[in-house]
Parts: sequence; structure tokens; C-alpha cells
Amino acid sequence: MGKISDALRKAEEERRKKRGDDQQSLSTPAPPHWWEFWKDRWDTSQKFRRHQLKKRGLTQQRYVARTIDETGIDPRVVSYYDADSYLSEQYRSLRTNILSIQEEQGLKCFALTSALHSEGKSLTALNLSLVFSELSEKKILLIDADLHKPSLHYYLNIQAENGLADVLTKDLPIDSVLHQTKINNLTFLPAGNLSDNPSDLLESTKMKNLIEKLKTEYDMIFIDTPPIIVLTDAGIVASMCDGAFLVVKVGKTNREIIDRAVRLLKNSNSNIEGTILTNIEYYIPTYIYKYL
Ligand SMILES: Nc1ncnc2c1ncn2[C@@H]1O[C@H](COP(=O)(O)OP(=O)(O)OP(=O)(O)O)[C@@H](O)[C@H]1O
Ligand SMILES: [Mg+2]
Repeated sequence: MGKISDALRKAEEERRKKRGDDQQSLSTPAPPHWWEFWKDRWDTSQKFRRHQLKKRGLTQQRYVARTIDETGIDPRVVSYYDADSYLSEQYRSLRTNILSIQEEQGLKCFALTSALHSEGKSLTALNLSLVFSELSEKKILLIDADLHKPSLHYYLNIQAENGLADVLTKDLPIDSVLHQTKINNLTFLPAGNLSDNPSDLLESTKMKNLIEKLKTEYDMIFIDTPPIIVLTDAGIVASMCDGAFLVVKVGKTNREIIDRAVRLLKNSNSNIEGTILTNIEYYIPTYIYKYL
């Protein structure tokens, strides 16, 4: 492989020389030597892994839908596109755990946060809301309280003119900004127009009253928030909810950072109900299928 890449690189150099842009060729840095070294080994190890899995009869799980339907919902919303998949089942087992908390302690409003960016908060909140909305008797509300970098409207393909921020700043009636999604029983409150002081907005009595009002109208509310180490918003929102979940991307976030996130959540007077792990690969042995 290393030799092949060398040959390809030389051929590209030749082509550039012929085109007369030698200068560019000289200024374009060659990939570092370590990259060639590790790339070859990575490819070989992946091939070996696939071969071993096949030999042992293990099936690799599919994660996302290959195509998007007319709703335009993001293919990473697995519970929508691939409701029978093992991954959707994981969200359902999370649902069972949350339902048991709900029954025992009467909790119905949960904030989702993580220590850092891109750990899977928004997609977890969305997939979780979706599996809850499968329970026909439940009215579910999903709120995007990430007023810095909202993403749920993008995942749901909803063009929202106004949202939570507008209710808090412009006194818009809440019903005018709620979106009934194309998914049964699932209502969505987008973040709305970004303001200069999102933390102040979220810390207001208005926000607290809004959550209390919505709790009387919905059976379950999930609130997506920004990462807690980066911004105070998550702690503020979580303290207004009945509980909070900490999303942790396995293999990315280290223990000290997670400890710090837990401390911050506790300091904000939030009840941590549990941790949700993302980025885990599952393999289902074929013998499990036989007994299903
Ligand atoms: N369960 C999961 N397993 C593996 N990857 C995931 C999982 N959930 C989400 N991701 C990936 O993590 C990335 C970020 O997802 P998402 O937008 O949900 O994160 P986030 O924590 O909300 O990010 P941000 O802090 O920017 O708001 C996406 O590319 C997504 O594919
Ligand atoms: Mg997010």
C-alpha cells in the first residue's frame, strides 16, 4: 500500500509538472510519513476485524438510514427510519427505564446535556422523544434550549421562524411557536431567533413558569441544552427540570471532564437521573436471533 501511494503521488507530481504548475507541487506538502504508516495498518486491521466477525457469525449493526423520505428528517434519526433496528431498541430500553422513574417519582421533564460539544445530546433527545411518541397515549414535547447552536430544527427539517427565545423576549404566545411534527404525538419547540444573552433568558422567571405550564399539558418533556462545561445554560435549564441526563461519548470524553460535568450539574441543584452512553458499537451474535 505504501509503495502504491508513493507511486500515485509521483504520478500526480508528473501530471502537475506537465500542466506547468510546478510551484504548486513544490508548495503542496506531502502527507506525513506517520500517516502512510498508520493508514496501511488501519486498513489491514479493519479487514481482519470484518473477516473475524464473519467467521464467528457476528452481524454488524446498521446505524443510519441510507435514504431520506419526503419528511426530510435527518437519516441519523434512527428511531424514525429504522424503528426495528437494535439501536432503536436501545432507545426503547432507555424509555423503559425513564418510564419506571416517572411512575415511581412522578417526573416528567428532563434536560439532556453533556460535558463537551458533539457528544450526541440532540440526536439522543430526538430519538428518545420519538420512541416515547410511539406510546399512543402520551403527549411528548421536545424543546431546543440550545440557544447558542440549535440543531433540532435541522434534524427534523423544520423551518422555524420563531421559537423559545422569541417567547421569552417578545412575549409571543407559546402556542404560536409550537410545531406539531409529522411524527405522532410529538410536538417540537424550536430555539427561535438567537439573542445576545441566552443565559439570562433561560434564567428568567418566565422560563421557569413556561416549563411549569408545559408540564401541565404534556406527559413527557425532553429539553436539549448546550454542553455544561462550555456554558452555564445547561445547569440553569436542568435545575428547572425534574431531572437531567448526562450524555457521554464513549472513547472521547475523559473521566476528569465527566467528573467536572457532574460537579457542575450538582452545583446547579439539578437531579442527575443517569448517564446515556453514545458512540458504542454493537454486534449481535446470531445465536441470540435464534431465541428471539
Ligand atoms: N448514539 C450515537 N452514537 C454515535 N454517534 C452519535 C450518536 N449520537 C450522535 N452521534 C454523532 O455525534 C455527532 C453530534 O451529534 P449531536 O448533534 O446529537 O451532538 P450534540 O452533543 O448535540 O452536539 P452539540 O454540542 O454541537 O450540540 C453527530 O455527527 C452524530 O452522528
Ligand atoms: Mg446539540
